[in-house]
Amino acid sequence: MRFLIANARIITDSGLVSTGIIINGESVEEVLYDSSIQPAEIPVIDAEGMIVIPGGIDAHVHLQLPTPAGPSSDDFVSGSKAALKGGTTSLIDFVTPARGESLLTALMARKAQAGCTLTDIALHVGITWWSDEVADQMKQCVEREGIRSFKIYLAYKQTIGLSYRELRQAMIYAASLGTLIMVHAEEGGIIEELQKSYIRQGKTEPLYHMFSRPPETEIEAVRKVISLVRETGCAIYFVHISTSGAAHLIADAKREGLPVMAETCIQYLLLDQQVYFQPFNQSAKYVMSPPLRSRENVKSLWDDLSAGIFDVVSTDHCPFNYFGQKEVGLEDFSKIPNGAGGIEYRLQMLYTYGVMEKRLTLQQWIDLTSLNAARIFELKNKGFIKSGNDADLVIWNISNSETISKKTQSQNCDSNIYEGIRVTGCADVVIRRGEIMVQNRQLKPERSTGNFLNLITSDKS
Ligand code: URP
Ligand code: ZN
Repeated sequence: MRFLIANARIITDSGLVSTGIIINGESVEEVLYDSSIQPAEIPVIDAEGMIVIPGGIDAHVHLQLPTPAGPSSDDFVSGSKAALKGGTTSLIDFVTPARGESLLTALMARKAQAGCTLTDIALHVGITWWSDEVADQMKQCVEREGIRSFKIYLAYKQTIGLSYRELRQAMIYAASLGTLIMVHAEEGGIIEELQKSYIRQGKTEPLYHMFSRPPETEIEAVRKVISLVRETGCAIYFVHISTSGAAHLIADAKREGLPVMAETCIQYLLLDQQVYFQPFNQSAKYVMSPPLRSRENVKSLWDDLSAGIFDVVSTDHCPFNYFGQKEVGLEDFSKIPNGAGGIEYRLQMLYTYGVMEKRLTLQQWIDLTSLNAARIFELKNKGFIKSGNDADLVIWNISNSETISKKTQSQNCDSNIYEGIRVTGCADVVIRRGEIMVQNRQLKPERSTGNFLNLITSDKS
């Protein structure tokens, strides 16, 4: 279909500029900077009074993540619906091989699960064990399958986490392949000691999830990984940085010219650790790793974000129901499945508490929610509105104001960690590769599934 978005104000280096955007098939055909030129006889969507932004890219999402308490409660359909409603048109999920399982086998299985996703989707591959065999599988993932990024956990040592020695080997190998390693930077060994010690003392509430993962466990892990970057030259992307202390180490590493990138997540900017001082049925929903931090840290993290230390703001979207999932940890916080949902609120939250509060410019907002992720993870033709790029566009209604509630959410979860928070702005129309997926904030009943991005053997892309 060929159509025009008229009166499309887009964000440029010189501020908001009024344009018309012609969409043809899956791509942007042309951005018309002269509003007197109006192509005749094509359907028009009028964006008067709104702004048009590139579709959001959420670089850190766990849909249907297998855990001992069952899979995270959003599957690829419900989670991607929530993403679209929030203005996110591409997401990147994870392949998490079991120890001993081939990375390629796990990748094929994850692709089969993810084929129903409504946004476009790419995959990061987890390295959950290490051997020469795994190194060879990494190479095949890159060369045969099109994978651009691998994730290593320094937490969860008993199940999927690696040691620093293994991480170092993986980084040396990744540097030789020229591929990116993402690191979940938490000192897993210390955390497990603290967890055991609290449980032994009968301190079993979610509050002790927070106490068992103090800020130093993140800061120290980031410090060690940066040393490994200096030694190996491997490019690193730190996931879900929650402390300003770690952000400052990352800023120093960037100044030094090291290939270091980082994301923080919306929850570390909006919520603080006070939520853990509540009864189990209230606090368990906030159990995530890393945990929420102090109010002072939240304030500093905003300063770090404004200062440009972070490249990306993602969600680490990983919701679990309270009933039947979070509640399995009633007697032991370490059994509570880690994670919470937020994919549908990322753009709204960052617009409201970043742009409206003058902590971020409009340009920073779209860079953090779309462009930088496209660049870092090599999502070709995404993240920027220009002729020839994918027509992933959001018509953003700046006049909207509402209160977040589980009653109106799209994610599949019996709770919402952002309940009661006021937000401004919303995705009125969401276009994914030229197809209108959301109109007047409603998902269109007829719609196609998304493409796999980068994956070479995909029959969908
Ligand atoms: O608590 C979290 N972050 N859950 C999702 C899995 C992970 O650690 O990223
Ligand atoms: Zn995660």
